[in-house]
Order: sequence, then structure tokens, then C-alpha cells
Amino acid sequence: MLASLSYLLTALLLCTAAVNSSSAVPPKIGKGYRLISIEESPDGGLVGHLQVKQKNNIYGPDIPRLQLYVKHETDDRLRVHITDAQKQRWEVPYNLIPREQPPPLKQTIGRSRKPPSTAISDYPGTESMLIFSYIADPFGFAVKRRSDGQVLFNSSSDESDPFSDLVFKDQYLEISTKLPSDASLYGLGENTQPHGIKLHPNDPYTLYTTDASAINLNTDLYGSHPVYMDLRNVVGRGYAHAVLLLNSNGMDVVYRGSSLTYKVIGGVFDFYFFAGPTPLGVVDQYTALIGRPAPMPYWSLGFHQCRWGYHNLSVVEDVVENYKKAKIPLDVIWNDDDHMDFHKDFTLNPKAYPREKLLAFLEKIHSKGMKYIVLIDPGISVNSSYGVYQRGLAKDVFIKYGGKPYLAQVWPGAVNFPDYLNPKTVEWWVDEIRRFHELVPVNGLWIDMNEASNFCTGLCKIPEGKQCPTGTGPGWICCLDCKNITKTRWDDPPYKINASGTQVPIGFKTIATSAVHYNGVLEYDAHSLYGFAETIATHIALQGLEGKRPFILTRSTFVGSGHYSAHWTGDNKGTWDDLKYSISTMLNFGIFGVPMVGSDICGFYPAPTEELCNRWIELGAFYPFSRDHANFYSPRQELYQWKSVAVSARNALGMRYRILPYLYTLTYEAHITGAPIARPLFFSFPNLTRVYGLSTQFLLGKSLMVSPVLDKAKTVVKALFPPGTWYSLFNMTQAIVSKAPHYLTLDAPLHVINAHLYQNTILPMQQGGLISKEARMTPFSLVVTFPVGAKEGEAKGNLFLDDDELPEMKLGNGHSTYVDFYATVGKGKVKVWSDVQESEFALGKGWTIEKVTVLGLEGIGGEFGVEIEGNELVDTSKVEFSAVEHKFPLELEEGGDKRK
Ligand code: GLC
Repeated sequence: MLASLSYLLTALLLCTAAVNSSSAVPPKIGKGYRLISIEESPDGGLVGHLQVKQKNNIYGPDIPRLQLYVKHETDDRLRVHITDAQKQRWEVPYNLIPREQPPPLKQTIGRSRKPPSTAISDYPGTESMLIFSYIADPFGFAVKRRSDGQVLFNSSSDESDPFSDLVFKDQYLEISTKLPSDASLYGLGENTQPHGIKLHPNDPYTLYTTDASAINLNTDLYGSHPVYMDLRNVVGRGYAHAVLLLNSNGMDVVYRGSSLTYKVIGGVFDFYFFAGPTPLGVVDQYTALIGRPAPMPYWSLGFHQCRWGYHNLSVVEDVVENYKKAKIPLDVIWNDDDHMDFHKDFTLNPKAYPREKLLAFLEKIHSKGMKYIVLIDPGISVNSSYGVYQRGLAKDVFIKYGGKPYLAQVWPGAVNFPDYLNPKTVEWWVDEIRRFHELVPVNGLWIDMNEASNFCTGLCKIPEGKQCPTGTGPGWICCLDCKNITKTRWDDPPYKINASGTQVPIGFKTIATSAVHYNGVLEYDAHSLYGFAETIATHIALQGLEGKRPFILTRSTFVGSGHYSAHWTGDNKGTWDDLKYSISTMLNFGIFGVPMVGSDICGFYPAPTEELCNRWIELGAFYPFSRDHANFYSPRQELYQWKSVAVSARNALGMRYRILPYLYTLTYEAHITGAPIARPLFFSFPNLTRVYGLSTQFLLGKSLMVSPVLDKAKTVVKALFPPGTWYSLFNMTQAIVSKAPHYLTLDAPLHVINAHLYQNTILPMQQGGLISKEARMTPFSLVVTFPVGAKEGEAKGNLFLDDDELPEMKLGNGHSTYVDFYATVGKGKVKVWSDVQESEFALGKGWTIEKVTVLGLEGIGGEFGVEIEGNELVDTSKVEFSAVEHKFPLELEEGGDKRK
């Protein structure tokens, strides 16, 4: 409330951190803005006006007057929106990410009150966890967390800091925040980060969707996620918050350690601050705004096999057969574009993939519960005899340049790109997918090359008398007749983001940025939304088909993509480094609200060594999305191709199929609360600074820790164990008791992946199988973990089951079951009970818990009485107490591994 504005000279001034004063610091761009008015808006927010202080022409003229809008949208979310006060500007469309609209622009400043020129004003939301405050001249604002007084964001001007003044031009926006020395930041992707998950000062973070393969380090990649989480340790306690800049234009985010600067080439400043203070709280608050992660079908948690270059159907049939023979689990078989007729979407190659045979094959695999997914690319072949193209042309669905469909080249040769921002395009796309599904009943779609990727740059035409070769080989090279586009300010903006890490023009190998979408929207603004808009259209199409839960895998993502689809990390290399990088990218996507994520297991290209593929499937078996995929030119790398890899695969995937109920419950949790399936350790141990940047281990859910071997020729792995008891998932009689967070060297021979279950957990498991449908039918067991030697304690776990064919994943629809499991130990008795919230869904003839294994108690069996569901258990044969064999008599203390 404006009335309650108090004038506090608070931490805003005090928290000014040291500014990097290197000699390369550029001059200040202008002197910022002055707040000239501020008033309450009818919706309870604040609306203010800012006036530029001194105009200049660096990167174009300043926008003279800005409108500031501040709103406590919820108790834990604050929005700060800054735009041109006189003219509507491009913003991320409100239909793509549904959210509140800021108040309409006010051309004139009404009965506003003149703000004080220097004092800091405080705008505490009624019940908000966050406090907004500002300085009027030069304008700067701060966001503070009420509970601990931490200043989360501080854009106040500072004479000695050239980055501290607000800059707002048509094609260049700049704002900075100061950061305290204990800030540790995560996010800002998509980006392969050689330094691990924690942002590294002075590494570049450029956000602009780009088909640069994932092997390019620290450059803009397929997705754009202008959000970071900041975890700070304040007197031994970790406090997290997040900052989203909802903007789809290209940007460089410059992180210097003591500050962070956004340099954006268009749009508006639309900041959202999420109060946390726990990492799980942050993702909950974040996904409440951008859309909760999509529900996933159960089978999508099974193992997936794919490759580019399954030349015909028999090869695919053989692959499925060989997995079966090798007794390696497989749920989903994929085709890249090999099934297509000359790389054209929604077609079948009549020779290599004859429809009748394909249908017979699908009937066979579907009857076992296996699934089939194929690739589609957005580029639609320009070909007068191609129905998809003709219908698209007739409906006028393509992106335009100079009034005609923009011509590009991808695998089919010359292509046009559908404009998914156009409702007519969405209708056409939905209809094409419906037609295709009648031709081939696929179970999901893989949407690739949607950054959008183009082999050519500029304005092209089909060369006279020639056709572009399609597919691989020479087709990779642009063969259209192309010239540079007449350079508009959209093709050649005044500020050059570090596109592709080399400052290539922003139209390089993508759609020309002066091309036009529906309603005159420029590609310049909408570029990074291309894959996201395609994902939404594809989701609508799949939902309308059989009413089943859609499965989509997309390469390009934006804020909110996780609400519709899964993601894989793109074209990686079959190298040890890429094995490592896959963990950071996967963990970042959990923070981005896209928890169903994984990397090409064994690497896309070039071929992995046998040893690497062993290690990769061991790690990949614990990716949320677990798929082996390879390039056209790679040798075959299905898991059965090497005997040793098959052993590792049976071992690791065998375990994955036993913990599928746990993983599925995590997808439910993700869908309800945004909690990542794979998480950095700091999600469960936010107070332990030792784990903050840890990128070589991760958690599945709260309490299952995976510690893979990531180096060549290593048969041991150094793993960090937060304090407590950790039980080996593969051999539950082995426990590690850690008293302080320390690295411990664990045995990890070739076929061993270390995974540990934390104390106080109840893990629901089943017996596994070769297909998730079978595995799902097997009896359950519960593993209950207490700290070693516990005489008293409690453990908890949960389980979600439903009919995964249903589009929604929720309780109360008559097709789901949710169980909370509890266990306590005390007074010589172990009690195990459950609280069933919904119990409508019964698998097959109903599911049973066959066995309960209680770990950590000193005595075995008889020494403890057992009570299950309130009944004294007379027949204890179904309860097993495992004596814990301390493999290493471990008491980890300062100094590390005290193994004898
Ligand atoms: C892209 C994809 C890759 C796919 C290939 C051919 O490079 O990233 O996964 O195999 O296109 O479609």
C-alpha cells in the first residue's frame, strides 16, 4: 500500500558489493532513469513512471519514458515489469505463458505523487515474503526477503560501477544486480558448462536458441531459460531464491561473481522474484507460474533405443529382438528420419518401411506394452506433390519474408517453416498429426531441429534447374542460392550478442530475423519461442488423438516447455567429458521445470569406447529420460553390441526397472510441485556448502544418491557423503555412516554403479522386468532405512499409481492411488503403516506388498516386535531385518576416509 510506504535507509545501500574494476570495463551507457511519479494501481500494485536522465545514442536512442509496474502476485512471488510508457512493446505472448497482464499504458501521468529524490522507499506487500524498495534518482530497486533480511536483487546505481544504471532502448536493454560474495548461482541455459552446475564468474551465458551441438562449451544452445536460482549460506543455513527475466529476445548475461548484468536485445524487463527459501520451494513457486511439469506415461520411464540410420524395418525388428535375447530391458523403440520418404515429415518410405509390415510390427510390440516414437522436423519440404506442404500452403501457415514463405534448407532440401504462433498453423499441424497417426499409430513424437535450424543463412532461392540433395552428406551444406538479407536493424542489431560463442549474426543458420510471423511479429523477437510454440501445437495434436497422455521429446525449449514435454540434451560426443557434462545439463533442466531429461547414452558422435559405453549406461540408467541414441555415421551402439556393456546394462537398467514405482512417484511429485526428478545434492542438504557446486553426483528424489564413475580406467569413485547413514542400493547390507560431509573412495569395478539410499526413507520397489508393463505387475517390497544402530527413529516414503493412459495425472479421478508410508522404531518395536489417500486404482488383480526390509537396526528379527497397519504381526516371514554389514567400519570425520 502506498500509504504504508516507509522510508527506510536499509540494507540496500549496505549490501553494495565490490565491483570488478578491471581495465576492460566499458564506459557507462547513459546515466539511467529518474522516477518521476508513483501511484497505486487498481489491482493493488504500484505503477510508476521513469524519465531518462541523459540521452545518448549508444546502441540506439533511449526510450524517453518508461512505465514501472510492481506487484506482489502471491506471498512468495514479486513481479517487476518495466516497459516503454508510450508504446506497446513485444513481450512473451500471454497465451503461451498464461499470466496476469500489467495495467494498460498510461500516456499521461495522472494524480501521481512525486517520489522523493534520493530516499529508499519500501513497498511491503501485505503478507508477502518479499519486500520491494526503490531509490528514485537515479532509479534503482531492490528485493529483500522479509524473514532473513537478505537483499536478493539490487539494481541501485553506483558511480564506480559502469553496469549499474538502467538502460532501455528499442534494441538494447541493460540492468544489473549486485551479488554478495556467498551467492552461488545455478541455471541460465541452455549451456554446456565445463565448470559444472554452479555458474562460473566470467564464463559467458548467452541465451538464444541455437543448433550448435552440445559439445560447444559455454555457448548458447538449443533452449533459452533466463532464470537462475541463488543459494546462499547465511550462518550455516542455506537460503534459496530465484529470479526469472521473462523475455524471449537474445541476451548475454554477464556474471562477474559480484554482480550480474542482463544485456538484452529487445522486449521488456519482466522480472519475477521467487522467495524460496528452500530449493524445493523455489521450483514449486517457479513452476506455479510457468506451468507444472507435464505428466509422463509410465512407459516413458522405461529404456528407449534410438539411432539415426536404421535403414529399414528389419533392422528395427532385429534391435527389439536382440534386446530381448540379451535380456536387457527395453520399452520404446524409435525411428529418426529413416522411416520417412525423402526426409519428409509424416510420410513412410515405401520400400524401407512398408506400411503393412510396419503396422504388423507395431501390433506385435504394442501387444507386449512396448511403444514406438518417430522424429519430425519443423521444416516442411517445398514440393508440389507433397500433401502436407500443399495443405500448408493453401492454409497460409508458413513464416513469411517479403510476403512469401521464407525459404530455408534442412534434411529434405528446400523447406518452409510453419509459423506456430498462427492459430491456423496450429489447426493445420494438429490435422497433419491426426492424418499421420491414422497412417502409423505412433505413441509419441520427437520434435527436432526446432531452434529453428537451417543449413543456409539469409535470403535464398532454389537454384535454377537444380534440386537440393536431401538427407545426410552433401545435404548438410547449404545448396540453395543464398545472398545476405538486406540488412535491417533486425538482421544487424546495434548490440551483438555472443551468438554461437563467436558473435555470428543472429540470423546465422536459422530463420532470418527480419522474417515475419502471424500478426506482424518479428522473428527477431519470437526466435527463441519457435520450439516452444511447436511443442504446444504438438501437445494439442497428441491430446486430441486418443485422449491419452501425450509424450513429446523436444530439442528446443523455453520457459514453460516442461509443461508439455521432455528434453534431451542434443548432439553430444562419445567422450568422457561429455559423460560428465550430461549431469550438469540434466540438473539445470530440473531447475528449469523440465524434469524429464537425459542425454544421448553412449554419445551421439563419434563412437564411444566400450568402457565409456559401460559407464554411460550405468549413469544413464538413472537419468529421468533414459535413451541410447547415435548419429548416422556412428557404428551401432545398442547396449547388446558389446558383451560387457550388456552386463552393465542388465545390472543398472535392471535396478531402474525395480525402482520404477519410485521414479513414477517422482514424476507425480514433479507434476504437482515442480520438484526435479534428478536434483543437485543441495536440494536435500541446503545447509552444506560442500555440496553446492557438486556436479559429479546427484539425487533422484530426496534420498537416492547416484555416484557414477566419470573417468577412464577408473575402478573406484570418490563420492561425497552428507552426514547420516547411506545404504547401498545394490547391496543393502552395506552401509556408509558419515559424520561429516566427506569424500570417500568407493569400489566401482566396470559393472558397478554406486547408488545409495539415505536414512529415514521408505523406498517402494518392485521386482523389475524387461518391459515396464510387466514390471508394473510384480509384487511390491518396501525398504525402510533407519540410521545404523537406531533404537528410535522414523522413516517415510510414498507411492503414486494411476492409469497412465489418462491425460491427467491426479488424485480423485477414480483411477489413481496415493499412499504415504510411515515407519517408526522405538521401545523395541518397529511399526510400519500406511495412509492411503485414494485407492481406486488397482493394477491387474491388485497390488500387494510382499516384503518389508528394515535396515539399520542392531538386532535381527525377533529382537523387535513388528506391527503392520496397527496389527501385531505374528507371521514375520514377510518382514526381513537386515543386519547391516558395515563394509567399511566407517565413521567419516575431518580427514576423510578412515577405512581400515
Ligand atoms: C539432429 C538431432 C539428432 C538427430 C539428427 C537427425 O542432429 O539432434 O538427434 O539424430 O538431427 O535427425
